[in-house]
Amino acid sequence: MLGMAARVIREARPRRGFGGTMAQDGSRKVYVKSYGCQMNVYDAQRMADVLAPEGFSETTEMADADLVVLNTCHIREKAAEKVYSELGRVREMRRDREAAGGAMQVVVAGCVAQAEGGEILRRAKGVDLVVGPQSYHRLPALLDAARVRPVVDTDFPADSKFDALPQPRPERTRQRGVSAFVTVQEGCDKFCTFCVVPYTRGAEVSRPVTAILAEVERLVAAGVREVSLLGQNVNAYHGEGPDGAAWTLPRLMRRLAETPGLARIRYTTSHPGDMDDDLIALHGDLPAAMPYLHLPVQSGSDAILAAMNRRHGRDEYLRIIERVRAVRPDIALSSDFIVGFPGETDADFRDTMALIAEVGFAAAYSFKYSPRPGTPAADNVAQIPEDVKTARLHELQALLDRQLRAFNAATVGRTVDVLVEKPGKHPGQMVGKSPYLQAVAFEGRGAQAGDIVPVRIGGLGNFSLLGERADIEPDRESA
Ligand code: SAH
Ligand code: SF4
Ligand code: F3S
Repeated sequence: MLGMAARVIREARPRRGFGGTMAQDGSRKVYVKSYGCQMNVYDAQRMADVLAPEGFSETTEMADADLVVLNTCHIREKAAEKVYSELGRVREMRRDREAAGGAMQVVVAGCVAQAEGGEILRRAKGVDLVVGPQSYHRLPALLDAARVRPVVDTDFPADSKFDALPQPRPERTRQRGVSAFVTVQEGCDKFCTFCVVPYTRGAEVSRPVTAILAEVERLVAAGVREVSLLGQNVNAYHGEGPDGAAWTLPRLMRRLAETPGLARIRYTTSHPGDMDDDLIALHGDLPAAMPYLHLPVQSGSDAILAAMNRRHGRDEYLRIIERVRAVRPDIALSSDFIVGFPGETDADFRDTMALIAEVGFAAAYSFKYSPRPGTPAADNVAQIPEDVKTARLHELQALLDRQLRAFNAATVGRTVDVLVEKPGKHPGQMVGKSPYLQAVAFEGRGAQAGDIVPVRIGGLGNFSLLGERADIEPDRESA
């Protein structure tokens, strides 16, 4: 099994005071690098938050760091292998620091930590702590113990990390911007035959409604205008409500939408099997729910979907899309695709291409199937040759690119509400997001981060849509 067994090397000596090497000014620096999904980004923030009371501030320069955390992803082989090359780089930095009389502690966190545990210590030198995603609240104690000897903690502890993780101070939230991630559900019970997540993140757990409300209210009080609710299967959310009943995701979203100051709510990632009627209906009647749905389908072939254990067929997926579009015709659809799953024939691949052509996606992520140790599909004898996977991926991505460009082009001439995030590259320019999650750059003319302004889209830039504010007259003099 993939690192499910808890391998914990407990602290050998009594806890020493944390901060033995604290710099003169009492501050130390932590550098966190995240790979993989948005939940890792959220986790990285939570790790920084748990370290802040210990005197750590964040740095974006690894060379300046007293503590380096690699927050890893195990989803595909390439992602997992990246960690080892990065650890080589970290080791050099550490040597340089130590040569200059400093010190550096090195932590491997995230899904590779959970899956590989102590194996990481054997494969890479210079790692002090390997810590799985369910133990981040114990970081200070674990770091302390790791001063004596390397520590591995891949437990699924009985105490919930969510209860123990501190919330950031308002200044910190403000620095992180007007759009925030909030994990509401973690783990997965679906066991798709290609996927490591049920092993690395464990069984599905939903946070209680009151904890989420409190977190969102804090974020909004510090200036956040948009929250993205995260979960590996976010629409399977079933957290305990204040009334003691299990609340669904749409019920949670409707309640969150009552938060004064919160303008936008997004959620990701959803599973087609959990798209219930109320969640679909909400896209038609809840203004705060953004018209964007990331709904991974993986394949358009029923045979492959069955072999993947996706628990739904092609038609079921298409029917969901139809129903969502019926209540929200302009919704932007996004998906994940895997090509070259074991046994995928050319006809199966054509089914995927046909599904894409039928739906029309605004965005998508697509991958070559990567066999993952411990997952059923990795043992399948019908593995697809690499060159076939590559050719299929290119063809599929070309179609998806055309659809993405078409979706963006269709926005030209329209006026869309933009949530302003930050200044752009050019003087006076501001950038933000459309409801469809497109980046938009425009002449700010007084617009501040957190404002929502109507922007008339005039054209397409390389990485964003370009527009002008539609709520004030164009400035003739500067034009
Ligand atoms: N929980 C989400 C996605 C989890 S992982 C869901 O159920 O859809 C994100 C994406 O990575 C998946 O949707 C899938 O497209 C891709 N992925 C997962 N395992 C993979 C593997 N072994 N090889 C290639 N892609 C994979
Ligand atoms: Fe992985 Fe499937 Fe769970 Fe998504 S639903 S996290 S793809 S096992
Ligand atoms: Fe990767 Fe773990 Fe996320 S495997 S995609 S970091 S849940």
